Amino acid sequence: MTLIIIAAHSKNLVIGKDGKLPWHYSEDLKHFKSRTMGCPILMGRGVFEELNEKPLPGRENIVLTSRKYDQVTTFDNIPEAIQHVQKYPKVYIIGGGQIYKQTLNLVDRLEITEIKKTVEGDVYFPEYRNDIGTVWKEVHRESYEEFDFVDYEKI
Ligand SMILES: NC(=O)c1ccc[n+]([C@@H]2O[C@H](COP(=O)([O-])OP(=O)(O)OC[C@H]3O[C@@H](n4cnc5c(N)ncnc54)[C@H](OP(=O)(O)O)[C@@H]3O)[C@@H](O)[C@H]2O)c1
Repeated sequence: MTLIIIAAHSKNLVIGKDGKLPWHYSEDLKHFKSRTMGCPILMGRGVFEELNEKPLPGRENIVLTSRKYDQVTTFDNIPEAIQHVQKYPKVYIIGGGQIYKQTLNLVDRLEITEIKKTVEGDVYFPEYRNDIGTVWKEVHRESYEEFDFVDYEKI
């Protein structure tokens, strides 16, 4: 099983503001959908609330939380959630900040949308850029005017 973080961050690593994404790029949403479709997605309760507690279609939605919801599988710890998805070839961790921070050192791959501006926010992606070349190897980059799609694999 390949465990993958998918995230979009600004130059200053902002990923969220007031419980939402601080930007709207439809191409990035399409990219997220095409990469994650058919794969299980692991998220924190913050992200699930952002989705208005409605699971994303076509993907097994797994929510990390101490609460219980009828519409999704929940786990109150990360090891059990990862154990649950072992049977799949690819699993995506889709945020938010708390979950990225706790899983950065567990994942095999990062699929990052690098937004080419500084943005104000209150939730950050954990610092990983100092480890590019030692822990992370860039394996793919697709450049657009406002952002790049960049994939890293663990060395
Ligand atoms: N730009 C991006 O790519 C991107 C992606 C995703 C999200 N975001 C943004 O990130 C923000 C949300 O992030 P966030 O950090 O506030 O929330 P979050 O990481 O989505 O969720 C936090 C919640 O997850 C649960 N949790 C945390 N660690 C856990 C663990 N080890 N085991 C079980 N449950 C655990 C807790 O839920 P309980 O309190 O219920 O126990 C906690 O309150 C939003 O602004 C969103 O827009 C951005």
